Amino acid sequence: MAQIDHNGRDVHREERVSHADAERGEGISTALQAYPSPRVASSGTTLQQRREMPEIIADEPPDDIAPVDIRALMATFPTGVGVITAMEIDGHPWGMTCTSICSVTLEPPTILACLRRESPTLGAVLASGAFALNLLHDGARPTAELFASGAPDRFSRVSWHMSTACKGPHLLDAAHVIADCEVVYSKTVGSHIVVFGEVRRIIRQSEALPLLYGLRRYMCWPGGESQK
Ligand SMILES: Cc1cc2nc3c(=O)[nH]c(=O)nc-3n(C[C@H](O)[C@H](O)[C@H](O)COP(=O)(O)O)c2cc1C
Repeated sequence: MAQIDHNGRDVHREERVSHADAERGEGISTALQAYPSPRVASSGTTLQQRREMPEIIADEPPDDIAPVDIRALMATFPTGVGVITAMEIDGHPWGMTCTSICSVTLEPPTILACLRRESPTLGAVLASGAFALNLLHDGARPTAELFASGAPDRFSRVSWHMSTACKGPHLLDAAHVIADCEVVYSKTVGSHIVVFGEVRRIIRQSEALPLLYGLRRYMCWPGGESQK
C-alpha cells in the first residue's frame, strides 16, 4: 500500500520506480544521463540538455602519455603536520616532516605514513622497527621547515628526548601530541614506502592547536565551526 507524506507524495514511489527501472535496465541509462561521459556531452545533445548537465571538466579522452602530477590535487586537501622520528641502531636520531599520515584501523590502532624511498629517516624507521609521530602545534612552523630541509644537524636545533619507552625521539617543544608506534607492515609503492605503525602510546604534551598545511602554505586553525 502506498504511504503518503504530508505533501501528498507517495514516499516509496521513487524506490519502486528505480527498482522497476533496474529490472528493465533503465536505471543504468538514467544514471548515464545524469553523469554523461565527455563524448556524450560533446555531441548529439540539445542546448537545453547541455544546460541541465553537470559541468564537464575534460572534453578530451585522457592522454595516456602525459604523466599526472598529483601535487596540485593534494594541495587542495589540507592536513595536520607531523614529524616522523626514529633512532638509528647506532644512536643517531632521524626525523622528517610528513603530511601523508592516515588512520588505518581503530582495532588494532594503526596509522600509516608514506616516506620517500631514499630517506635516511625511512632507513632508521625500518631498521629499528619503530617510530614516533610528533604532531606539531601551530607555533612549530620553524620545526616543520627544519625537518623538511634535509639539514644534517636538524636535531641539534630542537629540544628532544629519547628513552626506552619512546619508539623514536620526542620533540618536546614542537609537538602537542606524540604517538609511539611499532612498524607492523611496509609496502613499496613506486617512489615511496608505505609504513604501517601500530600505536602503543599517545602522549598529549599541551593543549595547543594543530599546525595545518594546505594550498602549499602553513596555516593556524582558523577557529569557529563551519556553517551547517
Ligand atoms: C609540509 C610537508 C609535508 C611533507 N610530507 C612528506 C611526506 O608525507 N612524505 C615524504 O616522503 N616527504 C614529505 N615531505 C618532504 C620531506 O620532509 C623532506 O624530503 C625531508 O628532507 C625528508 O627528510 P629525510 O632527509 O630524513 O628523508 C614533506 C615536506 C613538507 C614541507
